[in-house]
Amino acid sequence: MQINLFDEKKRLVQKLDYDFDSIMENAETQSGDAFSNAEQLIEQAIIELGDYEISPSSSNIVKYLKTYAAFGYANEPLAISVKKRNEGNATMKDFSSTTFEEIIHFPNEEFQDRYNRLVGLDDLKSLIQKEGATIMAPEMLQKWSNKHHNKMIKALEAFSDRYPFFIFEGDVGTGKTEFAMTFGSELARFTNQEIVLARMSMKSRGNGVVGEMSKLITKSFQDASKIAATTKKPVIVLLDEADSLAQSREENQMHHEDRAGVNALIQGIDHIRSSDIPILVVFCTNRLGAIDPAIKRRAALVHTFSRPNLEQRYEVFKKYFDDIALTSRELAILAQITGENEIYRYGFTYSDLLTRVIPLSILYAYPDKPVTFDIIEQVIQSIKPSAPFVEQSQKGGNDLG
Ligand SMILES: Nc1ncnc2c1ncn2[C@@H]1O[C@H](COP(=O)(O)OP(=O)(O)O)[C@@H](O)[C@H]1O
Ligand SMILES: [Mg+2]
Repeated sequence: MQINLFDEKKRLVQKLDYDFDSIMENAETQSGDAFSNAEQLIEQAIIELGDYEISPSSSNIVKYLKTYAAFGYANEPLAISVKKRNEGNATMKDFSSTTFEEIIHFPNEEFQDRYNRLVGLDDLKSLIQKEGATIMAPEMLQKWSNKHHNKMIKALEAFSDRYPFFIFEGDVGTGKTEFAMTFGSELARFTNQEIVLARMSMKSRGNGVVGEMSKLITKSFQDASKIAATTKKPVIVLLDEADSLAQSREENQMHHEDRAGVNALIQGIDHIRSSDIPILVVFCTNRLGAIDPAIKRRAALVHTFSRPNLEQRYEVFKKYFDDIALTSRELAILAQITGENEIYRYGFTYSDLLTRVIPLSILYAYPDKPVTFDIIEQVIQSIKPSAPFVEQSQKGGNDLG
């Protein structure tokens, strides 16, 4: 099946040859209408060429495919109007029509600072930079092999099968979003290239309308490919708060709609792995241990974020209060009293410390007193740690008591 691409002045700019049957086969494995899926696949393939954008007037594709399917052939090639992409003219506003809420360019000083400020995650930081580099800059691993083994060692082949996909799971307020939003800056430095981050919050997206969630996910993958093609930079796609996609398919309560979303996610990841587009997908969920096995199996890395332990809470207080002359004994007490006790079986989250204890202590002292150990201690005693994330429940009991 031949596809001709025409520019705005109706000039033929490129001829493409695709196998109709394999497109349709591929389209039929996806949920929803096979012809619409096929249309999306074709558009995606054109976008991935990197030189063109599809003009919105190209709505003749489905009709063409139906005719082709009915007769088994078509007299004319499929004509699609495209727009030549402007090289080096890729600004933020080109992406304003994407599904993403935020698009960040790395390296980025502000995000780098935020990354550096994250406490207690040193092991994850070092692991993620290496894992990220194997995906975003595979040549670095090859260079390493050449340098230390004088050849490409066979073990590197194990990396070629991996999915460019990380999962961050863990309770609310444990740093998943903050880490996912910022590690790209360090990765950009480490791999010595610019990286784009595109974040979509899945919370309350999709509205439960059938097909909505899966469309959204499919579109986010298409948009990410577009961003990668336009900017010629690797892209981190952050699917944040993807809780509705995290319930095991084995649990029958999973809504049909969410299941379609799970399938769209799996297809998106599979497609990225089999193509050369440098996209890394990061999936965050508050639901612990409830991620669909088919999703989990694909992850190159699954990290469970936890509330800070005694040492980590100490580190947080030390980091933020080291210039107000608290003794290490006092810091240790603060770390101690923000942990679990007889009343609360769980300690403070990072978020409780960073967005409540510390600012409230300052506000308590402000404007006419210095902030002291006593003030911080008092503030802590007036706050309850956030209750752990429970399915469908309202988070209660975490306001100032
Ligand atoms: N390891 C950490 N060190 C310092 N601050 C943290 C850490 N983890 C989270 N925070 C802070 O806690 C708050 C909530 O983190 P967030 O990433 O939104 O949590 P989650 O996405 O897991 O619900 C943010 O202000 C963040 O900066
Ligand atoms: Mg979050």
